[in-house]
Amino acid sequence: MKVLVVGSGAREHALAWKLSQSPSVKQVYCLPGNAGTAQVATNLEGKVDDLDGIVSVALAQAIGLVVVGPEDPLVRGLVDKLRAAGIHAFGPDSTGARLEGSKSFSKELMREAGVPTAAFRVFTQADEAERYVREAKRPLVVKADGLAAGKGVVVAQDTQEALAALHLIMRERAFGEAGDTVVIEECLQGQEVSYHIVSDGERYVALAPAQDHKRVGDGDRGPNTGGMGAYSPPPVVTPDVERKILERVVEPTLATMKRRGTPFRGTLFVGLMIHEGEPMVLEYNTRFGDPETEVIMARWDGDVLPLLLGSARGDLRGVETRWAAPSALCVVMAAAGYPGSYAKGREITGLDRVSSDAVVFHAGTSQQGEQIVTSGGRVLVVTATGDDIDQAAARAYAAVSSIQFEGAQHRRDIGHHARSR
Ligand code: AMP
Ligand code: GLY
Repeated sequence: MKVLVVGSGAREHALAWKLSQSPSVKQVYCLPGNAGTAQVATNLEGKVDDLDGIVSVALAQAIGLVVVGPEDPLVRGLVDKLRAAGIHAFGPDSTGARLEGSKSFSKELMREAGVPTAAFRVFTQADEAERYVREAKRPLVVKADGLAAGKGVVVAQDTQEALAALHLIMRERAFGEAGDTVVIEECLQGQEVSYHIVSDGERYVALAPAQDHKRVGDGDRGPNTGGMGAYSPPPVVTPDVERKILERVVEPTLATMKRRGTPFRGTLFVGLMIHEGEPMVLEYNTRFGDPETEVIMARWDGDVLPLLLGSARGDLRGVETRWAAPSALCVVMAAAGYPGSYAKGREITGLDRVSSDAVVFHAGTSQQGEQIVTSGGRVLVVTATGDDIDQAAARAYAAVSSIQFEGAQHRRDIGHHARSR
C-alpha cells in the first residue's frame, strides 16, 4: 500500500521512517515533508492547510492511508474530507479534534467524564474574566480557547500577569477568534508527562509514556518552546500511575465521546501533571506529540502500519505493543534565537558522521542543491535508544556533538529526571 504522511516536522519524519520499514508499505509520501523525509519518502508539493488539495493528491496517487501529523488540518476537517472521498485516514474527524481545538469543549468533557483536572471557569466577556481574576488573588492559568500555536496559555504568577494575558487574548485579540472564549483555571504543581493512546472508536492501544522538556534552557528555565527534547519512559509514571491514567482519564474520556455519539478515532495524547502519584489532566491533544513521537517510534518494535491503519479503519483488534528498546531519548538542535525570531538557510554539516546507533529526524531543514540547510526554529531531533536512559542519552549526545550549524543550541540536561549523571 501507499501511505501519505501530512506535515513537515520531525514527528512526520519519524512516522515516515517507521512506515518505510513496513513490509506492507510499498511507498511513503510526505506532504510537504523536509530534507529528512526525502531520505525515506517522496516529498509532494502542497500545503497542510489546503484540505481539498490534499484529498486530490491522495486520490491521484492512489494512497491507501493518509496519516495526518499536525492539529490544524485535523481541527479544520481534513479527516472528514478524506473519509468522505473513501480514503482511509489516521486521525480524528473535526468533532474528535475539538478535544484539542477548543479548551472549553475539552474541559467540559472532562467534567462530564469525571476526569481529574484543574478547577476552571469559562468566560466570553473580558470584563467578567478580569473581575474574576482580580477577586481570585492566587496564581491562575489563562488559556485562549482555540488553537494558538502553543502561545495561547499563560501560567500567571500574579494578578497583573493574568490581567495582561486577558488583555492580549480578549482585548487585543492576539490570536483572533481563538481568544473570544477563555478558560481560567487553577495552577497545578508536579511533573508533566505525555501519555498517548491510539483508539479505533471501540478499543484503544496504549503507547509508552514520555516526558517532554518545554523550556528552552537547562534546568527548565527560559521561555516555553514546542519541546526541546523527550525521553521514554519517565520514572514518575509508575505502573500504579499508569493504571490511574488509563482508568481515570483515558477510559472515561473515550467512553464519554462514544456516549455522545462521536466515538474518538486517532491519537489521544493526554498532557498530565503528576503530583504525589496522582495524575491530573492539563490538556488533550488529538495528534502525536513532537518530540514525543520521535522516542515512541524509536522504541516501537516492528511494523507500525497495523496500528495506524487499524485505527483509521476502526479495527485495532490484534494490534499489540512491543517495545524494541527499554529506553529512548531525543535532543532537539534549534536555531539561535528560537523560540523567538531566528535565521534560516544555515548549512548543516556532520550528518554523515553520526554513528549508526542514533537516528537524526529533521524538523526544519530543506535541501539546497547538494546542501542541507536550516529552515525552521527546531532544526533536528537527534534520537537514540538504549538499555536505560543513561545509555540512550550518551548515544544521542555523542551524535549531537558530530553535527554543526551556525548558532546551533540544545539543552544538555534532557532526561534529567531519569538520568544518574
Ligand atoms: P496546555 O496547552 O493547556 O497544555 O498548556 C501549555 C503548558 O502550560 C502546559 O504544558 C503546562 O506547562 C502549562 N499549564 C497548562 N495548564 C496548567 C495548569 N493548570 N497548571 C500549571 N501549568 C499549566
Ligand atoms: N511536545 C508537545 C506537543 O507536541 O504538544
